[in-house]
Amino acid sequence: MKRSSIYVCQTCGAEASRWFGRCAGCGAWNTCVEEGVSTRRTKAGAQARNPPTPITAVSGSSEARQSTGIGEFDRALGGGIVEGSAILIGGDPGIGKSTLLLQASSGVALSGSRVLYVSAEESLGQTKMRAQRVGALSENLLVASETDVEAVCEQIASVRPVLVVVDSIQTLYRPDLESAPGSVSQVRECASRLVSLAKTTGAAVFLIGHVTKEGSVAGPRTLEHLVDTVLYLEGERHGAFRILRAAKNRFGSTNEIGIFEMQEKGLTEVRNPSRLFIPDRTGNGSGSVVVCSMEGTRPLLVELQALVARTAFGYPQRVTTGIDGRRLAILVAVLEKRSGLDLSAQDIFLNAAGGVRLDEPAVDLGVALAVVSSFRDRPVDRGLVAIGEVGLGGEVRPVGQVDRRVAEAHQLGFTRCVVAKENLRGLKAPSGLEVVGVAQIDAAQEVVFG
Ligand code: TYD
Ligand code: MG
Repeated sequence: MKRSSIYVCQTCGAEASRWFGRCAGCGAWNTCVEEGVSTRRTKAGAQARNPPTPITAVSGSSEARQSTGIGEFDRALGGGIVEGSAILIGGDPGIGKSTLLLQASSGVALSGSRVLYVSAEESLGQTKMRAQRVGALSENLLVASETDVEAVCEQIASVRPVLVVVDSIQTLYRPDLESAPGSVSQVRECASRLVSLAKTTGAAVFLIGHVTKEGSVAGPRTLEHLVDTVLYLEGERHGAFRILRAAKNRFGSTNEIGIFEMQEKGLTEVRNPSRLFIPDRTGNGSGSVVVCSMEGTRPLLVELQALVARTAFGYPQRVTTGIDGRRLAILVAVLEKRSGLDLSAQDIFLNAAGGVRLDEPAVDLGVALAVVSSFRDRPVDRGLVAIGEVGLGGEVRPVGQVDRRVAEAHQLGFTRCVVAKENLRGLKAPSGLEVVGVAQIDAAQEVVFG
């Protein structure tokens, strides 16, 4: 007999022909759901066959881009929205995805192009209220409340917009599929329908997807390969800052980030972000060090705060926010082995200010100095920025684009930078800024703490 079901992992979307307890794809337990087989296999075979063409005969110039009217958004996209592209935008519920996309929609609409905003989650009245709040009222912005993907496609065909926003992909469904809206196969089928429509009509399609607790976009994690660009809107829910980061981009760099602040009238751009991540310091400030991380082409100065305290009982804790915990563990081991610090009975907590996530090795030196500063209870000079990667041998390694980092530090009024000795070569320090080169972590401590 023909099998009529497939078994899908809810976390990663891996498929199996039999029920499984543990997913072979991502290793998660109890994520298996049974879903009816869709028409996807028969459809693929029925598609028109395109004969191979010499690559020289293929037409295609550089892609046309449309600005969203929001500089930081355009930046994260790699310079605006590419015609006919499909973009997935993920994030926690309530982080501001609908707000951002409504603002971008109105930006495009105000430039004279037609936009279709499909609100599958909220009523038109709610969307109108939000639009009033963020000032997104334009004749060219058409809204529809629709959950059937075929109806959405019909509307796209009749409206012929340059931009379509689907809010959210998890609430769309195809009635001919057995599974419930939000299930992996529904989400995948609806998305692939919209993506192929984007390719044929030339309309850019934004798909909004909620991220679940596990950190994967529910279902949409499985969409990442379907779309051209994947953006995530991140930030602390209770903080005001939001970072828009590209996880995948067929039309640009994935390093560029857009920085926003949630305000009364929606998300506003933050053009000079470094200031935000350096809070005003009070008290003696031991454990605080400012580091510089390149986010794409932009240097970002961020304050790190470490707290090193005696472990009350048992196993010492290592807790980080915004920095990889394993990176901290490595740097602590380097400090113990190369500088003779005994941190084995100390809890270590480490935060990056403002909810940013730093994953560049150039912040290593700052992390190490913050830990030493708190451990010894010796504050670091407030005018100092630490820039360098730390190797397992305790050596301070050079980092790229050090001139831009130093320039940013100077611009924000810092007076001293500690960098790797090798980075000094060819570096011209701006006047009023002292740049000190160090080769070893011990030498860095000597410079900073005397
Ligand atoms: P929303 O865009 O609905 O989030 P998502 O679509 O990602 O679920 O944003 C909701 C939050 O943003 C809500 O907590 C209220 C806040 N907000 C503002 O602070 N200012 C505003 O102008 C708007 C529209 C929302
Ligand atoms: Mg929303």
